[in-house]
Amino acid sequence: MQIEKYEGDRRALLPLFALADDSPTQISTYVGEGEVLVARDGDQIIGHAQITPTDDADCLELKSLAVIPARQGEGVGKALVAAVVARCRARSAGRLIVSTATADIGNLRFYQRQGFRMSRIVPDAFGPATGYPDGLLVDGIPLRDQVVFERDLGAG
Ligand SMILES: CC(C)(COP(=O)(O)OP(=O)(O)OC[C@H]1O[C@@H](n2cnc3c(N)ncnc32)[C@H](O)[C@@H]1OP(=O)(O)O)[C@@H](O)C(=O)NCCC(=O)NCCS
Repeated sequence: MQIEKYEGDRRALLPLFALADDSPTQISTYVGEGEVLVARDGDQIIGHAQITPTDDADCLELKSLAVIPARQGEGVGKALVAAVVARCRARSAGRLIVSTATADIGNLRFYQRQGFRMSRIVPDAFGPATGYPDGLLVDGIPLRDQVVFERDLGAG
């Protein structure tokens, strides 16, 4: 497995973007932004990570991250986050943020295992108004609120 910058057509990565975000409307607003790293196993792309700018020049965002279901749980997601952190440090960013649903217990564990800390909650970020189906449950919890995680890139 190797991780490298992706220079191809982003449309080829839409199934991966869709794993990370239930709203095609939202995806269409950011799929072309920033830079994308991919994890490859031979010819196959098995995961992706997108880094986008924020309003704060010192802070970058891990906007989209996914590993294909058949390869989850093998350390690919962890390796992608490590590559994103290295890339953001090389770009002299001091902080990296990532957002996920408060309902997604698995992601809450995953990001904290990668050194992120919760910084704020965005109530009602997910719903019909933002392109998410009404009544969607994740782990039996209504998809409603968003948690923003932050990792300080200064410390090793
Ligand atoms: C989240 C995701 C990227 C993690 O990638 P992965 O390759 O499966 O994760 P890794 O194998 O690198 O796991 C790293 C650690 O996180 C933990 N972890 C990963 N997914 C987890 C889950 N769903 N629930 C609990 N822990 C999880 C692993 O157990 C491992 O823990 P450890 O360090 O204690 O051994 C992947 O599951 C995925 O693509 N999910 C669907 C898309 C998605 O939700 N993207 C994030 C949207 S914000």
